[in-house]
Amino acid sequence: MIIRKSPSEIERMARSGALVARTLAVVGAAIRPGVTTAELDALAEEFIRSQGAEPTFKGYRGYPASICASPNSMVVHGIPGGYTLAEGDVLSVDVGATLNGFVGDGAFTFPVGEIDPAARELLETCRAALAAGVERARAGSRLSDISHAVQQTTEAAGFSVIRTLVGHGVGRAMHEDPQIPNFGESGRGPELKAGMTLAIEPMITAGSPDVFVHEDEWSISSTDGSLAAHFEHSIAVTEGGPLVLTTAPDVDLAALAGLSAS
Ligand code: MF3
Ligand code: CO
Repeated sequence: MIIRKSPSEIERMARSGALVARTLAVVGAAIRPGVTTAELDALAEEFIRSQGAEPTFKGYRGYPASICASPNSMVVHGIPGGYTLAEGDVLSVDVGATLNGFVGDGAFTFPVGEIDPAARELLETCRAALAAGVERARAGSRLSDISHAVQQTTEAAGFSVIRTLVGHGVGRAMHEDPQIPNFGESGRGPELKAGMTLAIEPMITAGSPDVFVHEDEWSISSTDGSLAAHFEHSIAVTEGGPLVLTTAPDVDLAALAGLSAS
């Protein structure tokens, strides 16, 4: 069952989303060679709590940290720890914050220092795929119109979408219906309606789309070791079009990361 939110609930979700965007900015500003992912996690947790919110991920099904920090060929759900960032790495950071009963969920893949042009293209493509998916999140469209746009943007650039990982509805719970695959024909699935709130999250690789779960039972990496990227927004379908919730007027993650302006 897809839970639709009232305009006032969407306003509350925009506050959670803004906090996610600001947390990603706090983390992004600290990303440099020599920093560990555990240090980034501590910064994020401290910031989220300082705003009167809870890190949604911490304790979720036993997840031990406040963010996911997934370097290079790791796609998602990397547990922060002793990994030390190196020049040329990419780091996918996923943040969830619960504020006033609603969850914001967002992710961004940051370059660490200078990255090579192929890595930059992967990041730009994943970001463009997210933008294309968000653009299709309109009342009257079908859910798979989002999926199709993500897949098309990704594959047109020669990259692969991961098929076993999906986006999701978001609201009072981090994971609500529906699941949102990042591939598929358009025109399928439920009709999108105003009040639906969705976490759209392309996860793509530069090589094969196959992934495996590490022994920690969380971290997921590409099987062929190819570079991965993950960008995510929580959005609301409104009468006026898609409304991105995980954004804030004072936050420009692309500028912070040195990616092209959107
Ligand atoms: N954004 C991720 C998701 O939608 C975050 C989950 S991490 C977890 O699945 F640790 F909380 F599970
Ligand atoms: Co998510």
